[in-house]
Amino acid sequence: MSIRVLEDRCKPCLLCVRECVAGAWREENGRPVMAAPELCNRCSHCVAVCPRGAIVHDALDPQQVRRTDRDLLTPEIYAEIVRGRRSIRQFRPKEVPADVIESIIELAGHSPTASNRQNVGYTVICNRSRLNAISKAVFGVGRWLHAQTSKGVGRWLYRLFKTVSPANSLERYLEPMGYYIAETDKGRDYVLHRAPVLILVHGPRKGAFHAENCNIAAANIMNYAHARGLGTCYIGFLCLALKFSRPLRRLVQTPKGRKVYACLVMGYPAYRHAFTASRKKPAIQWIA
Ligand SMILES: Cc1cc2nc3c(=O)[nH]c(=O)nc-3n(C[C@H](O)[C@H](O)[C@H](O)COP(=O)(O)O)c2cc1C
Ligand code: SF4
Ligand code: SF4
Repeated sequence: MSIRVLEDRCKPCLLCVRECVAGAWREENGRPVMAAPELCNRCSHCVAVCPRGAIVHDALDPQQVRRTDRDLLTPEIYAEIVRGRRSIRQFRPKEVPADVIESIIELAGHSPTASNRQNVGYTVICNRSRLNAISKAVFGVGRWLHAQTSKGVGRWLYRLFKTVSPANSLERYLEPMGYYIAETDKGRDYVLHRAPVLILVHGPRKGAFHAENCNIAAANIMNYAHARGLGTCYIGFLCLALKFSRPLRRLVQTPKGRKVYACLVMGYPAYRHAFTASRKKPAIQWIA
């Protein structure tokens, strides 16, 4: 890897040295020196911070490095994106063009990753029959649990469980399951919400910070999709089911050695939310 300074452009401010936490750039006699290129994790920070465009880094794509534009940023717009985004569960039966999906995922690629590994991957499924099969497989677990807990010993055990574990999250979903089943049998999809696109965000099966990396990217997908007039919904049930079901992992074709850490559906919302939502006051602990 070649990383060098264009000496004629450099006015040695040493911002590159201060910025490089990898320790690749170091200071010698008041000038930046590329001391250890093998430590570089391609974070782009030196290139991004250099006010004189004096650094040439051959492992980075110069086409992607452009001047930042703070005038485009307003806190009001960002807050509107975050406050106005809703989980969308009713979609228009309209395809999302592949280039739109790609551009949203491309932006999510600018999310932070631990040690700048950039090892988040995406599986996109738009095929209607595969989406239906995934929904059916996940909802099948709900049907099974409902059948097991509605009669005989299962019902007795479930009632006992409710007394020893009040306010459990299983109850939250099992209580209305009879209704969900009746609605599903009429054609409603409670799992993927009949969305035209499913995005699985995956990382390596083993190692640290993969769940964090994938979920930060997922959050950026949700916010950017909203800003572009699309709707998304995080599908935790599918993430959970994928942990336990090999047939389901085969159905979504999780790449070998990878694990899905976040699942989202995406599409054009059937209608808009005219108002923002109400939220609990965040619990903040200030420590002196
Ligand atoms: C980790 C996680 C898992 C979720 N799982 C589901 C899910 O399986 N199905 C669903 O319809 N919504 C799911 N949601 C969406 C939440 O219900 C939703 O974010 C919450 O009710 C707040 O609504 P809002 O997203 O419109 O602000 C999930 C959200 C998160 C963060
Ligand atoms: S940031 Fe740019 S101008 Fe400043 S010392 Fe480094 S290379 Fe030179
Ligand atoms: S790209 Fe990042 S790690 Fe590599 S030399 Fe520049 S600042 Fe250091």
